[in-house]
Amino acid sequence: MSALLPPVPADGNIPLHLAIIMDGNGRWAQRRRRPRIIGHRAGARTVNLVVDFCLEKGIRTLSLFAFSSENWGRPQDEVSALMKLFMNALEREVDELHRRGVRLRFIGDRTRFPDAIRERMAAAEAMTAADTRLNLVIAASYGGRQDIVQAARSLAVDIQAGRLRPEDIDESALASRIALSDLPLPDLFIRTGGEYRISNFMLWQLAYTELWFTDALWPEVDNAVLQQALDDYAQRERRFGLTSAQILEKPA
Ligand code: IPE
Ligand code: IPE
Ligand code: MG
Repeated sequence: MSALLPPVPADGNIPLHLAIIMDGNGRWAQRRRRPRIIGHRAGARTVNLVVDFCLEKGIRTLSLFAFSSENWGRPQDEVSALMKLFMNALEREVDELHRRGVRLRFIGDRTRFPDAIRERMAAAEAMTAADTRLNLVIAASYGGRQDIVQAARSLAVDIQAGRLRPEDIDESALASRIALSDLPLPDLFIRTGGEYRISNFMLWQLAYTELWFTDALWPEVDNAVLQQALDDYAQRERRFGLTSAQILEKPA
């Protein structure tokens, strides 16, 4: 199958790559009459839960939308509190992730982060580079449009240098420069928090991903919610533009 389409997982049921928009932290806190940052802290605990869930289910890649390129526009106190929380998580969680065989990767525009965070991100990636049980991708300062823009720019640079001709630009040429091009595309996308939108997450990569939405706010997500998403996914027929008959006749 083309590298542009997600491979069908071996058992056909468990997604190889799960991508999640972790939304609803602020509302979770506000319902408790607490500051929004309390919700972000609670949300950070849910990250551990979902990592455990993926390890247990044999999901090989988990991509989490932690902070969008647009989230920089939030009130300054929320942004700084989120940076502190991010730094704490990098200090506290990485050793344990490494011990459990989790490879960490970050996608997004790192130049906008303070140096201390950038150094920690690089150190975490280096420490876990050889870990193979689960790829944990954190999308931070990430935007899907920006991802496509940097891919287009990289094609332009190669054309200007004479390494590429315009007629060589096809879907796979662009795809190879989009974030995570070395990994299978997301099979299943989950958004918590009750909004039915993509909010600039992995626009290119989600073209044929199965979408699943829940009203559960991110801090209240538990194994039962995640299992519901997997059960629903297992019932879906992924046709990739073909007919049902064509999909069914394909040799296993
Ligand atoms: C998601 O929760 C986390 C980030 C965007 C950083 P929100 O902070 O968007 O929570 P709501 O959507 O306002 O409830
Ligand atoms: C998307 O959530 C970004 C993350 C979860 C990191 P937002 O809360 O920023 O999205 P909108 O504003 O509701 O579309
Ligand atoms: Mg939100």
